[in-house]
Amino acid sequence: MASLFIPVILGTARKGRRSEHAARFVFEETRKRGGVETEFVDICNIPMRLDDAGEQMKDPAFSELVRRADGLILVVPEYNHGYPGLLKHALDMNLEEYIHKAVGICGVSAGPFGGARVIEALLPVMRELGLVTIFNDVNFGHAAKIFGEAGKLLDESFVGRTAKFLDELIWMSRVLRYGRENIAPA
Ligand SMILES: Cc1cc2nc3c(=O)[nH]c(=O)nc-3n(C[C@H](O)[C@H](O)[C@H](O)COP(=O)(O)O)c2cc1C
Repeated sequence: MASLFIPVILGTARKGRRSEHAARFVFEETRKRGGVETEFVDICNIPMRLDDAGEQMKDPAFSELVRRADGLILVVPEYNHGYPGLLKHALDMNLEEYIHKAVGICGVSAGPFGGARVIEALLPVMRELGLVTIFNDVNFGHAAKIFGEAGKLLDESFVGRTAKFLDELIWMSRVLRYGRENIAPA
């Protein structure tokens, strides 16, 4: 099987976002995996109109990236127990591109729950997009404490947690790719 393509999407544009530290860490861990190609996608860099919505404002490069992907990793901060509106605005630009692909979500929060609420809030959105969620998450709680000023990870336990998350996501991405390529839809 050719390499899987699993990009990492940083889901906030906030100045000073700590989610970028988490996303960079997850990206580096993904890059270490054999048989997996990845790319770092910052939603700041996806051209988006604010006076329109949905597929009619599709960005060709983002659409092609999702079309190529076998799985997606979303790194998402919890904002008022929900997800950043800009992430939803970006995700809504595609639809068919997501179908029967795997997605894993990493939550980031100031509080202790590591974005558990934002992950739960995203699940119905993922389902409607046709993505297949996995049952492992990475919860980066107390984000101000677990990353140093330069974004260095201070809590080594996240190495093992992220490895488990990637194991599952890679397996699901492989299974779904096999299905897309070999099993005709009903
Ligand atoms: C608009 C807004 C709402 C927030 N709401 C929550 C929240 O509901 N729960 C929480 O634990 N942290 C909340 N935070 C803090 C973020 O989770 C925290 O800044 C964390 O570092 C992740 O976001 P960041 O990537 O923007 O830094 C909020 C931050 C902002 C800017």
